[in-house]
Amino acid sequence: MSSIITVSGLHKHFSVPKRRAGLWGTLKALARPEMTVVRAVDGISFTIQPGELVGYLGPNGAGKSTTLKMLTGLLVPSEGEVWVNGQVPWRERERYVASIGAVFGQRTTLWWDLPVVESLELLQHIYDIPAARFRDNLAQFRALLDMDSFLDTPVRSLSLGQRMRADLCAALLHDPVLLFLDEPTIGLDVVAKERIRQFIQHVNSEHGTTVLLTTHDLSDVEKLCNRVMIIDQGRLLFGGGLPHLMERFGGNRELVVDFAEEYPAVDVEGAAVVARDGLRVTYQFARQEITASALIGRLSARYRIQDLAVREPEIEATIRRIYEEKLLESP
Ligand SMILES: Nc1ncnc2c1ncn2[C@@H]1O[C@H](COP(=O)(O)OP(=O)(O)OP(=O)(O)O)[C@@H](O)[C@H]1O
Ligand SMILES: [Mg+2]
Repeated sequence: MSSIITVSGLHKHFSVPKRRAGLWGTLKALARPEMTVVRAVDGISFTIQPGELVGYLGPNGAGKSTTLKMLTGLLVPSEGEVWVNGQVPWRERERYVASIGAVFGQRTTLWWDLPVVESLELLQHIYDIPAARFRDNLAQFRALLDMDSFLDTPVRSLSLGQRMRADLCAALLHDPVLLFLDEPTIGLDVVAKERIRQFIQHVNSEHGTTVLLTTHDLSDVEKLCNRVMIIDQGRLLFGGGLPHLMERFGGNRELVVDFAEEYPAVDVEGAAVVARDGLRVTYQFARQEITASALIGRLSARYRIQDLAVREPEIEATIRRIYEEKLLESP
């Protein structure tokens, strides 16, 4: 299958005034600014297949929003190529935006002073959406996103969660084949987040919409994404599925065993005892070396076991390690 998004050697450099120390430095910088270059995106390449739901992750300032702005045609790259759905985003923008939807969680694309429904009707005209399709889509989205109670409210008076739902609805009214979401759950409570996630999942699985989203919430990733790309300082650190990520960087798994009786020694091949508290023993083992079931088999052949549990390393901790240690997947 051919890719719906192809990004190759993408760069975006910004020229910003150099900061100088002290009052004298500030005055000098104001009078004659010396410029320095920020490499927000510094040579990124990837492809995305139709129907994928991909998470684009990275610490603050990594270059996620800048990438999404280039993919939606808001920014022109300094270098590199982008093809989305057969088009170059920043050329023929009008035709291009008709094929994509985008939500930037930090700001709305709706008209501040208009009631939500009027904002949506305005979009119908802008995108030239046939009346029947608009009616059907609006009916579907307002039910899925539970929007009835605030359709007549001006956008400026909406709560953050309501605004995000209105923005998502607005981004999808014209049936785009692609959806770009920059922090769609930012600042929302757990219930609102879950609703947004279910909606994104629905759009992806029922309409086959390809989704690329950035988030700092790893529950979004766990619940939604079949693949993640991790970037830092404008470069790609990792690309792959979550199971692969955990296998590669997750570290050791743990097996916690409650023995049925006291044993003087509880050693077993393939695992190390890392804690012992009465009848409870915690083992650590490497997923590359032994499976949990093989380990349990070895233990139960030798000891009487009351109960046991396998503990997986947490995704959150694993991704934190990748950021902190700048772990790079070897090619
Ligand atoms: N218009 C701009 N002018 C100058 N520098 C910019 C501009 N836009 C972004 N940057 C810089 O580029 C880098 C990447 O910013 P970007 O907004 O893409 O990060 P991000 O990964 O989205 O971070 P966050 O998680 O905080 O949203 C940052 O150092 C930022 O300060
Ligand atoms: Mg951002």
